[in-house]
Amino acid sequence: MPAARRPSSLAAPSLHRRPSWAVSEAQVTPEDVFLARRKILKGLGLGAAGLAFGTAFQMKEARAASAAEKTADLYPAERNGAYSIERDITPEEINSSYNNFYEFGSHKQIADAARSSLVTDPWSIMIDGMVDKPETVEFEDLVRGMPLEERLYRHRCVEAWSMTVPWTGFPVSALLDRVAPQAGAKYIRFETFHDPAMASGQKQSWYPWPYVEGITIEEARNELAFMVTGAYGKPIEAQFGAPIRLALPWKYGFKSIKSITRISFTDQRPVSFWEEINAAEYGFWANVNPDVPHPRWSQASERILHTREEVPTVIYNGYGEQVAGLYAGMEGEALYR
Ligand code: MTE
Repeated sequence: MPAARRPSSLAAPSLHRRPSWAVSEAQVTPEDVFLARRKILKGLGLGAAGLAFGTAFQMKEARAASAAEKTADLYPAERNGAYSIERDITPEEINSSYNNFYEFGSHKQIADAARSSLVTDPWSIMIDGMVDKPETVEFEDLVRGMPLEERLYRHRCVEAWSMTVPWTGFPVSALLDRVAPQAGAKYIRFETFHDPAMASGQKQSWYPWPYVEGITIEEARNELAFMVTGAYGKPIEAQFGAPIRLALPWKYGFKSIKSITRISFTDQRPVSFWEEINAAEYGFWANVNPDVPHPRWSQASERILHTREEVPTVIYNGYGEQVAGLYAGMEGEALYR
């Protein structure tokens, strides 16, 4: 059943059909070309330094206003050793130039567009729905009131590549403590900004903007659920989902929504962006499982992005000890897609 070919990007929408003039898969820089380009730079003696110089130069030239940078004094935060893992950290220059952020294009090289267009200052987050203390809070006020720490997390995309990322942030449970969810609240719905003038990808009307994701309150309370405000010891950069995103390391990466503007507590299960596009391929739970293939490719192994090593995928992405209990007795649910 799984197709032998590797996905180079998430599914082309089936409900929201991609018109013929849209960017084709062939126009997207494939990973091989991306890595080969890096090799050539290295051969020329430009390697990481050359790339970093080029990137830094561009960033200086065209960087949108950033709320995250105003909190630079909070970084680096102390690393929490409980969340270290045996894999090497993915080099920052590789991670920060290979991203999924469909608001800026349906390919991986969105970093420049995100850095130059994503205005995050001012940035307020509305917290509403079934909570005792609803609020609309400025990003800086929120982050300064939270216990920041660094954690090394595995990051496994549904497209079968993986990275290891040093995220900085605070547990989602700390946010719950702040806003006091009511007893009837069962789910949290997260929403990204919607501004087609700022994010050209949102002009593509066959996607159901804004990007939405959801988790249960129990998942939110799990120690691993993390609100990310920084990466690589600095305030988070645009392409990673500035100024604030989720990291749910036991789930496929698409659950880790970027650039959050609204957090709603509800008794209704949210329909997420990818679920609305193609529910047969991208479900609500999306827990990593090597034994349940994506309908069009295997999930048995993954490619570590920077080494290109193919390694077996592990159930719950290696976090079974912390999260398996969340799903006890839920055999009837499609937990792994
Ligand atoms: N959040 C928003 N708002 N838009 C997106 O396109 N892509 C998701 C997720 N969060 C996405 C998003 C997907 S498919 C993945 S794999 C991760 O972000 C990628 O995160 P990274 O770029 O830090 O690797």
